[in-house]
Amino acid sequence: MTLETERLLLRPLEDGDLDGLMEIFSDPEAMRHYPGTKTREEGAAWLAWCQGLSPFGLHAAVLREDGTLAGQCGLIPQEVDGERELEIGYLFIRRHWGKGLATEAAAAWRDHGFALGRSRLISIIDPGNQPSIRVAERIGMRLHHETEKFGKHVRIYAVERPAGGGG
Ligand SMILES: CC(C)(COP(=O)(O)OP(=O)(O)OC[C@H]1O[C@@H](n2cnc3c(N)ncnc32)[C@H](O)[C@@H]1OP(=O)(O)O)[C@@H](O)C(=O)NCCC(=O)NCCS
Repeated sequence: MTLETERLLLRPLEDGDLDGLMEIFSDPEAMRHYPGTKTREEGAAWLAWCQGLSPFGLHAAVLREDGTLAGQCGLIPQEVDGERELEIGYLFIRRHWGKGLATEAAAAWRDHGFALGRSRLISIIDPGNQPSIRVAERIGMRLHHETEKFGKHVRIYAVERPAGGGG
């Protein structure tokens, strides 16, 4: 699945994206809300996991102006409190933060998820991850509930499909 936004091409991750992904995975600040930074081997395993979720899974977010990888964003099937949900996930390289790129990519995946007929999309967010909460709110998500996931306390943000939209 490939989507285009004003500044980004959102396309399936390729093996050659590992160098770009490692700019995120090796950055302790970017990985602050994950168990830790990742080795190249762990990064390759993550990439393979994303590719295995096709047509879902995190996709590459590539800058249209120069073709370089800015981050990853996409739809991830998740089970939350016994319900099957579709999560919008996003991780960007730190030098690209604060430009609205994560918001732009997440909004495109939201629209795509609704076009597929999903009635609700969520994001699973650490309560201390304010930049991620802001992206969720900017694409119309609101706090739905709090729960345990990935062995920790998390917030579930959710956006419902507008009446008459999508599908
Ligand atoms: C979460 C993450 C992707 C957010 O990145 P970000 O740069 O803060 O988000 P955006 O790219 O959408 O940028 C939004 C900021 O850019 C600014 N901005 C500049 N131009 C903009 C534009 N055209 N449109 C929207 N925002 C714009 C906004 O004012 C906003 O700043 P603010 O939050 O201080 O108000 C990033 O912090 C990250 O990769 N973190 C590590 C991984 C992670 O934790 N992922 C989430 C797991 S749940």
